[in-house]
Amino acid sequence: MGGPNGEAMNLDHVASIGDLRLIARQRIPAPVFEWLDGGAFESETLKANVDDFRALRLRQRVMKDISARDLSATVLGQSLSMPLVISPTGMSGMVPGGDGGELMAARAARAAGIPFTLGMMAIKSIEDLRRELDGFWFQICMLSDRGIMRDIVERARDAGCPVLVLTMTWPILSQMNRSIRGRHARLPPRYTPASILTYARHPRWALKTLGAMPIRFGNFVPHMAEPEIANIVTLLDASATWKDVEWLRGIWPGKLLVKGVMNPEDAQLAIAAGADGISVSNHGGNMLDASSSTIAALPAVVEAVGDRAEVLLDGGIRSGQDVLKAMALGAKACLVGRAHLYGLGAAGEAGVSKALDIIRKELDISVGLTGLARVRDASPAILC
Ligand SMILES: Cc1cc2nc3c(=O)[nH]c(=O)nc-3n(C[C@H](O)[C@H](O)[C@H](O)COP(=O)(O)O)c2cc1C
Repeated sequence: MGGPNGEAMNLDHVASIGDLRLIARQRIPAPVFEWLDGGAFESETLKANVDDFRALRLRQRVMKDISARDLSATVLGQSLSMPLVISPTGMSGMVPGGDGGELMAARAARAAGIPFTLGMMAIKSIEDLRRELDGFWFQICMLSDRGIMRDIVERARDAGCPVLVLTMTWPILSQMNRSIRGRHARLPPRYTPASILTYARHPRWALKTLGAMPIRFGNFVPHMAEPEIANIVTLLDASATWKDVEWLRGIWPGKLLVKGVMNPEDAQLAIAAGADGISVSNHGGNMLDASSSTIAALPAVVEAVGDRAEVLLDGGIRSGQDVLKAMALGAKACLVGRAHLYGLGAAGEAGVSKALDIIRKELDISVGLTGLARVRDASPAILC
C-alpha cells in the first residue's frame, strides 16, 4: 500500500476518519493541511457541523432480523453502493504531493461504487479525468463571463457528467484566520525563499510537487492565458440571482444539484429555478462563519421540499453514524469533503479507499443495530 510520497504505508491500524486526519497532518506540509482542515474566520460553523452530529443519539433496537443489510441508494437517477458522494474540493489534486490527487480520489470512489465530484477549481481538467473514468459529477460556480461558463458546462456535458453541481456559497471570498496567522504562502505551492523551508520539511512531497510544477487549474487552461487563482476568482459572479440558475438549467441537459441551500425559502426558490436536487451545505464552514450547522438546517429544508427534489446533506460527516443520522432526518444521501481529503493526505488513493471503507463499515453496523435492514428506511424513529 503506497503513501502519498510513494513509501510503504500500512493502514491496518487506522480505525476512524480522525485517525486519518492525524496521519495527514504529519504527512503533508502545514499550508496544505491548514487549508483543508480549517474553516472560515474562527471555524465556528465548521465545528458546529461536526458537534451537532455528535449531539444526536441513535436509538438501539434488538431482536430484529438484520441478517441481510442493504446500504444501497438511488441518487439523482444513479445506483450507489451506499448513500455517499465525494464533494468537490478544488485544488485537491495537490494534497498528496504532485498533481494526481483528484484522479486518486476518483479511482477510489469508482472502486467503492459511489460518485466523485470534480471541482471547477480542480488541478486536473474535466478531460484529464474523462480519459480514465466516466460518470463523475462536475461542480461549477456562477461566472461573470457567461461565455467561459457555458464552454465549461458544455465540456462537462461532452464528458458525459450526469450531474452538474452549482455551488452558490462562493459569490465572494471569505477569510481563513488560521492561514493568515500561520503566514502561509499561497496555494497551489510555489517555492520561494520564504516558503521553501516549510515545504522542505516534507522532502518527498516537495519533490513530487516540484516535478508537477507549474500546478495550474486545469479547467481554465483553455480559457485564459494565466489560469492562476487570482485571475479565476475575478470571474466569481457576486451579482448572480435565481434567474441565472434558471439560465443554467436551460443550458444543462443532465441533473442539476444546487449546493448551498440552508433554509426553506431558498429551497422553494431552488425548486422554482428547476433544481433536481438540493445540497444542504454551508461550504463545510468555509464561507459564512457563525451560521448554523447543516444537520440543524436539514429538517426544515426536507419539509419544504417534500418529494419535489432530492435533498442531500453536505458538511460535518466524519463517520457512518453521521450518515445514518442525516438519513434519519430526511437526507437521501450525504456528501463528504474533509473525510476523503484526510485519507488523500494520509495515503493517496489507498487513503481515500480507507476513508470510504471506514464509513461503509460504521454505517453497516449502525444500520443493523438500530434495527434496520435497509439504510433507506431510516427515519426519525431511529434517533433518541
Ligand atoms: C479544502 C476544501 C476545498 C473546497 N473546495 C470547494 C470547491 O472548490 N467547490 C465547492 O463547491 N466546494 C468546495 N469545498 C466545500 C466542499 O465541497 C464541501 O461542501 C465541504 O467540504 C463539506 O464539509 P465537510 O468537509 O465537513 O465534509 C471545499 C472544502 C474544503 C474543505
